[in-house]
Amino acid sequence: MAAGWLLAAAALAAVEVSAVEVSTPEEMFVENGTDAKLPCTFTSVEVISSAASVSWSFQPEGAATRISFFYYFNGRSYPGKDLPFKDRITWTGDLNKKDASISISNMQFRDNGTYICDVKNPPDIVVKPGEIRVRVVEKDSLPAFPIAMVAGIVIGTVTGLTPLISIVVCLVIRKNNSKKRYSGAQSFTRS
Ligand SMILES: *[C@@H]1O[C@H](CO)[C@@H](O)[C@H](O)[C@H]1NC(C)=O
Ligand SMILES: *[C@@H]1O[C@H](CO)[C@@H](O)[C@H](O)[C@H]1NC(C)=O
Repeated sequence: MAAGWLLAAAALAAVEVSAVEVSTPEEMFVENGTDAKLPCTFTSVEVISSAASVSWSFQPEGAATRISFFYYFNGRSYPGKDLPFKDRITWTGDLNKKDASISISNMQFRDNGTYICDVKNPPDIVVKPGEIRVRVVEKDSLPAFPIAMVAGIVIGTVTGLTPLISIVVCLVIRKNNSKKRYSGAQSFTRS
């Protein structure tokens, strides 16, 4: 009986250890008309073999289903045909570096939604895909994290409170923002 439990626990642990772990930012803001660099990295206990593959799918905001729009296998990209992202996708990853990122050019408001990065590295195929919520916004609506941080410092010091308080404000703001990654930052500063 006890041995049975032990075996079950060992099996569970084995499943966990052999899973591909995919990581992506949770949320990203992209200015319309700019490129979205969608970062996706992974870890696998197995050696990255030529059988490794990456697929990306898209679930439009408010839609219940996701469509697969990109597949990478054996050094080749297979962008789906006649899909919203046709001719706009560039593979920017490198499987040897456990990088499965892509870039989508000319982001439009209708590209709002969740982008799902899935990596298989047989025999390591147990994967919880990474999901990025991408918000396509106008330039003026890009969140200004540095401004919020500066505001925190200014409020903390101007109100005569100790610098410690401003540090706390900063930490709180940083914590709230830590899960966000920004794209389109280059065009943000360009003009
Ligand atoms: C972004 O959207 C705004 C509002 O629709 C539009 O005026 C602007 O031209 C767009 N920018 C690009 C680069 O498409
Ligand atoms: C895209 O997402 C942004 C941020 O949530 C929202 O303001 C905008 O209305 C959305 N656009 C579309 C076309 O869904």
